[in-house]
Amino acid sequence: MGWKHEMWDVIVVLLVVLLGASWVSLGTASVSYDKHSFIINGQRKILLSGSIHYPRSTPEMWPDLLKKAKEGGLDVVQTYVFWNGHEPQPGKYYFEGRYDLVKFIKLAQQAGLYVHLRVGPYACAEWNFGGFPVWLKYVPGVSFRTDNGPFKAAMQKFTTMIVNMMKSQRLYESQGGPIILSQIENEYGPMEYELGAPGKSYAQWAAKMAVGLGTGVPWVMCKQDDAPDPVVNACNGFYCDWFSPNKAYKPKMWTEAWTAWFTEFGGPVPYRPAEDLAYSVAKFIMKGGSFINYYMFHGGTNFGRTAGGPFIATSYDYDAPIDEFGLLREPKWGHLRDLHRAIKLCEPALVSGDPNVISLGNYQEARVFKSKSGACAAFLANNNQHSFAKVAFGNMHYNLPPWSISILPDCKNTVYNTARVGAQSSRMKMTPVGRGFSWQSYNEETSSYDDSTFTATGLLEQINTTRDASDYLWYMTDVRIDSREAFLKGGKWPWLTVYSAGHALHVFINGQLVGTSYGSLENPKVTFSKAVYLRAGVNKISLLSIAVGLPNVGPHFETWNAGVLGPVSLTGLNEGKRDLTWQKWSYKIGLKGEVLSLHSLSGSSSVEWVQGSFVAQKQPLTWYKTTFDAPAGNEPLALDMNTMGKGQIWINGQSIGRYWPGYKASGACGACNYAGWFDEKKCLSKCGEASQRWYHVPRSWLRPTGNLLVAFEEWGGNPYGVSLVKREVASVCADIYEWQPQLMNWEMQASGKVTRPLRPKAHLSCGAGQKITSIKFASFGTPRGSCGSFSEGSCHAFHSYDIFQKYCIGWNSCTVPVTPEAFGGDPCPSVMKKLSVEVICS
Ligand code: GAL
Repeated sequence: MGWKHEMWDVIVVLLVVLLGASWVSLGTASVSYDKHSFIINGQRKILLSGSIHYPRSTPEMWPDLLKKAKEGGLDVVQTYVFWNGHEPQPGKYYFEGRYDLVKFIKLAQQAGLYVHLRVGPYACAEWNFGGFPVWLKYVPGVSFRTDNGPFKAAMQKFTTMIVNMMKSQRLYESQGGPIILSQIENEYGPMEYELGAPGKSYAQWAAKMAVGLGTGVPWVMCKQDDAPDPVVNACNGFYCDWFSPNKAYKPKMWTEAWTAWFTEFGGPVPYRPAEDLAYSVAKFIMKGGSFINYYMFHGGTNFGRTAGGPFIATSYDYDAPIDEFGLLREPKWGHLRDLHRAIKLCEPALVSGDPNVISLGNYQEARVFKSKSGACAAFLANNNQHSFAKVAFGNMHYNLPPWSISILPDCKNTVYNTARVGAQSSRMKMTPVGRGFSWQSYNEETSSYDDSTFTATGLLEQINTTRDASDYLWYMTDVRIDSREAFLKGGKWPWLTVYSAGHALHVFINGQLVGTSYGSLENPKVTFSKAVYLRAGVNKISLLSIAVGLPNVGPHFETWNAGVLGPVSLTGLNEGKRDLTWQKWSYKIGLKGEVLSLHSLSGSSSVEWVQGSFVAQKQPLTWYKTTFDAPAGNEPLALDMNTMGKGQIWINGQSIGRYWPGYKASGACGACNYAGWFDEKKCLSKCGEASQRWYHVPRSWLRPTGNLLVAFEEWGGNPYGVSLVKREVASVCADIYEWQPQLMNWEMQASGKVTRPLRPKAHLSCGAGQKITSIKFASFGTPRGSCGSFSEGSCHAFHSYDIFQKYCIGWNSCTVPVTPEAFGGDPCPSVMKKLSVEVICS
């Protein structure tokens, strides 16, 4: 009996250990993984994912965005959970509107997508305070993202709340829901490195705490080389093919493949060529990667005061495959869709085992994947950024453009090359709609002492004072000037110097704006220094300090200061220098107009506005309001704010966000070649122009008539230059080589329907509801340039336009074969030709 008992004990213990420790690979759980891939319900998958952050668009936009993500070939949608949106006050939760997380996840499932939920709760994401509620900073004894009791308690509480919510809605895959993965923390590795031991124990704690919540699906930590089992560590970056997970039995995962980069006020707008993005993804997959997430697939908008930074722009477009307004960005979206289809054709071979690596030259290699059932897929890479390569593979030769990868789902035929874009390009336009606005204005007070004013000796830190209830904090003080001062008798004016920790500052003397200073993301600090006129007697110095989003990244970013911390001084007085830092200062949080809720329907009618010719222009600190009717149609809308300086906009009481077209983009915008290593400084646009000119107005925020538009302008601008515009496709282009591989052709051949080689086709498709109205350019031969600026080369088929005239005009879309016959015969035999065409959509 005795030994039997012991045996059973041992077996039970063994079973428990086995089930507990290797649940991830037993296949009992619905989502598991091994070295080659994640496994969902027993099926190995190459997972293609994209980030869409739910509060960066409206619930009305979600179904369409998710549909476009699915049609773009994604399997998964990834989002952070935005703590400060969900718990604006301790214990007061909000899950409505743009923060309806459950709805978003359910819509994803309806669209046929899985979800990767990055609970964090630290997000980073260029989101205000990295996603942390500002009140968290004031929890006694708290220290963020380290081995700190109060912080860990708050983090655990929120994480548990979210996990329980997901469970109760049965949203985990293990319950039949779409969530296949969760993330805890975000890019903590670099932070841990800075913090040392407490960082390390915090990371271990976070992993253990998360795993202990029993979601039934794996947890992920990105940029966390020491992520403890069973947590999967993942890579973020512009390229991640070099990455390998910390254990041989974990899949190779890329949580953030950056589709470009964010825009900051004052910075140019980054973009990333589709060819390079596709190359980086194909390279990751060919090197054994099995999960890739585009950050962002739809970037969207930092509505309200959700932008982090400081200085992060309101647009979070990110040059993503779906643009800020929800329209397809072509050719990026289409080129990735084609890539995804090519990868999926290779899936059976890709998930089956390690590839055979064959060198094809100094910069060229092939990787061949084979499955037991006989599937074979090959990737041929030319990593040389300067030259074409002709490589021998199997018993064929293949031409590889510079910095490109060809995909051969049958190890023979190329169906896709990352540098050969078969998808159409489109150019967008912003067309004014409706009549000009008829404005009314209201002057904000420049030195307003009222019930809410309070005083202190010396200068207060801004965030501690406002708790981020407003961007604005007034610092006001009195300066007595003796009538015997020399400058009053024709001498030099005294200098006022103000040092501020950031982010922007307007200086008023006796109610008059005397100057403005502001920092940048790189250096948020502000120094104001100027000769100012003061009168004999008492002068009022009023400093309006403005926070432009709270920091979201960096070691202990929660401790970074903002506001006028001093010193503040006057020099050039009879006495020499007078330090104002430690005298009595009066404070006021927010603007009078904010207190009055001028942005809202009821608030805006509580004061008297001036109209007609009295409407203020080029005047600082001015509120503007107008009403307008919703334009017909369903194109996305925006406000063109180019003639304004800096401020905020509201529509029907909802905040569109901060605007700052007065901050011009400084930087070097040059030509940008797709080939070669990309980083966020390589490809830039809008230098010398406003970093952000257009501000998204969600259609769903409008009613048919009488919409209230309110703007608060800090600098002084011309409101009559503001217009409502609709965004639509202006023209579409195709740029396709003869014999360029196309997936559809390969599919037709593989199915045995055709035996002869097939020529590629050009597909042109205008926006919904539009028609092709004219052919701007068409040339079959050796045309040059790119979409928008094509020109004929030395070889040009005389009848290049005819076929488009015949088959495209009057239609929403058309398809034309890229063959000499289609253009009236070969204009230059034995020369490699292509078709470039641009058609106008209206
Ligand atoms: C990553 C971070 C993201 C986002 C990104 C830049 O490091 O994880 O949340 O901030 O950088 O857009």
